[in-house]
Amino acid sequence: MERKKVTLAALQQKKESGRKITMMTAYDYPSARLVDEAGMDTILVGDSLGMVVLGYDSTVPVTMDEMIHHCKAVTRAAKSCLVIGDMPFLSYQVSIDKAIENAGRFVKEARCDAVKLEGGSEMAPVVRAIVRAGIPVCGHIGLTPQTATMLSGFRVQGKDAESANKLVVAARDIEEAGAFMLVMECIPDLLGGRITRELKIPTIGIGAGKECDGQVLVYHDLVGLFERFTPKFAKQYVNLSPLVREALLQFRKEVEEGAFPGSEHTFAMKPEEAGKG
Ligand code: KIV
Repeated sequence: MERKKVTLAALQQKKESGRKITMMTAYDYPSARLVDEAGMDTILVGDSLGMVVLGYDSTVPVTMDEMIHHCKAVTRAAKSCLVIGDMPFLSYQVSIDKAIENAGRFVKEARCDAVKLEGGSEMAPVVRAIVRAGIPVCGHIGLTPQTATMLSGFRVQGKDAESANKLVVAARDIEEAGAFMLVMECIPDLLGGRITRELKIPTIGIGAGKECDGQVLVYHDLVGLFERFTPKFAKQYVNLSPLVREALLQFRKEVEEGAFPGSEHTFAMKPEEAGKG
């Protein structure tokens, strides 16, 4: 049966009725098709793209053009999932006008349904302006990888009362600015639960405990295609890398030994035709 397109209202309803929301990253047509067919609610074209697909050592170098290119492939594949494009570093911090213009590119050029941006209370005016322009915004607080250096590295955020309270205020400010959803990354589960209960909008956790309204994982972590490092919160459901490696070795061996292509992979020509050449 064809699934209906997931809407913002449907996500809100899920929170209100206690049904969990699913989000998965995808960066290209084949992975987005699989995610969509798996019945996920939302696809995040995350700027994690930079690390898991483009080979950068962080998300900082990712550009608007790179994001748009990959978002276009994902939206071509996603029939039902709500697609969220992740605004890259410095695409929304320089000025409100620039932030609206760049958010607009995700919707107009790449046909995304919404955008996500990182940051706490200081980003509330930017969220408000983009929402006012008619573009739905998902917030992202806690560990915000684009500014990990400012947070002294990739570490759990909000572990003491003071920083936890700051994140609660940030969550409220982002909600008040009009965000439709909030991603919370790498915070203690008690804090994830507290913010989830305080907010009216849905929360999506990644390393934020099971009380969040939904969960997100990075596709390449889930299928075992990113081997550089594995964060504690990332569960690997299948390890594809050894299987792919084995298939590649097998191909190389068969070509070198003349075993591939076999007759079943070969096109025939009548010998009399071949003889005419
Ligand atoms: O870029 C990304 O994939 C993200 C998720 C980890 C939430 O921001």
